[in-house]
Amino acid sequence: MDSFRIRGGQRLKGKIEISGSKNSALPILAACLLADGKTTLKGVPRLSDIDSMQKLIGELGCHVYRHEPAAAERRAAGAGPDLPSLNGPLDIEARDESKSEARYDIVKTMRASICVLGPLLAKRGKAIVSIPGGCAIGDRPVDLHVRGLQKLGAEFRTEGGNIVGEVRGRLKGCRMYLGGAQGPTVLGTINVLCAAVLAEGETVLVGAACEPEVVDCAEMLNKMGARIKGHGTPEIRIEGVDKLVGVEHRIIPDRIEVGTFMIAAAITNGELELKNCNLDHLIAVQDRLDEVGVKIQRQNGTIFASSTRRLNTVEMTTQPYPGFPTDLQAQLMALLCLGDGMSVITERIFPDRFLHVGELNRMGARIRKEGPTAIIQGVKELQGASVMASDLRASAALVLAGLVAKGTTQIDRVYHIDRGYEKIEQKLAAVGADIERVKEKH
Ligand code: EPZ
Repeated sequence: MDSFRIRGGQRLKGKIEISGSKNSALPILAACLLADGKTTLKGVPRLSDIDSMQKLIGELGCHVYRHEPAAAERRAAGAGPDLPSLNGPLDIEARDESKSEARYDIVKTMRASICVLGPLLAKRGKAIVSIPGGCAIGDRPVDLHVRGLQKLGAEFRTEGGNIVGEVRGRLKGCRMYLGGAQGPTVLGTINVLCAAVLAEGETVLVGAACEPEVVDCAEMLNKMGARIKGHGTPEIRIEGVDKLVGVEHRIIPDRIEVGTFMIAAAITNGELELKNCNLDHLIAVQDRLDEVGVKIQRQNGTIFASSTRRLNTVEMTTQPYPGFPTDLQAQLMALLCLGDGMSVITERIFPDRFLHVGELNRMGARIRKEGPTAIIQGVKELQGASVMASDLRASAALVLAGLVAKGTTQIDRVYHIDRGYEKIEQKLAAVGADIERVKEKH
């Protein structure tokens, strides 16, 4: 397994191009199962999770083809990291609709595989999806997905570790509440939305998630011929249609990658120019970083992030969108390790999402956990150490800590970070970080 070696203390300065959103592309790839004909997606990042989803829909009878940029384009881009804008478009076309099983081997590598459940039931009337297993960030049931699809008329049983769903005739629209104990569900909203677009009559989803990734999927479905209103609000109305056709669609920029690099600028007292961003997707993040003393300015689709040396302390609670995203909790914690006093973070979405705490404390941080809350006592500096990545965002936090720590940090198991960040070490090295990927010796 590859690892990263980082020599800390470099001030980051320069331009970084943001990739397309992983959390938007994954459900959108699954939603392509709903359409007749070819869909072309632009801005799909190159990530191991995307490879897994491509493999999954391929096994479900889709022809998936990634266009490679012409040599001239690559030459024009010159040396430096492969820019996300060089990622060729992805063509997806469902050619064989006889398949309906999402195998354990793929589902165990990526929970987002559950996103094929709604599209398969709506389009093929049958779905067999392996029940996603345990997750490093905490308990992640899929009961809300199943309950929502049941309300549209699907029947379910579990068999051999699989969810087996069937539809007699056609799904039927209805009014339903989709919220859970921790609030709305993002992928659950998208799964039920994808089923409702081909159901008979109207569906009203109350307590729907409002994340930009939900909106991006709904907008693609509307281009395909769906009739969705209210996406981006807690109440989504869907008028079912008979069929959807393939379209061209561009994936939104990855707001979590933007937030991660904003914090990279702050933690290294640097200045970064982030290209291809939508700051409107990060209002709560900007609010907290502003409080810490990070300067965020925007000019068109570019964000300028810089910070003063002195980092203020803050209190932050993760919330559903438009609140502070749980996927930036670990990264903010890394920054607050150097705050001028005591900060408090409360994790409301995944109350156990604190595997990064132990590793940051190994680097000299002073963090104490109490239930869903972490109390961070700021320290003057962090020390480089050997640490272990446990999940995607925790590993991003360790990279940020390594950028500022005294000495060398070695982060093992970086396959976690390759799931959600496209060539992060190349992007960081291009703006001055002393970071390298150490390939596993075979
Ligand atoms: C999406 O996961 C993201 N994943 C997660 O990002 C993100 O952390 C999460 O939304 C919250 O923003 C993708 O988009 C691929 P939820 P999702 O259903 O949809 C509970 C990353 O780092 N719940 O909104 O699976 C659940 O346990 C990943 O990129 C139920 O109880 O999350 C949680 O407490 C990690 N029953 C809360 O709801 C259900 O059926 C919100 O989860 C579903 C969820």
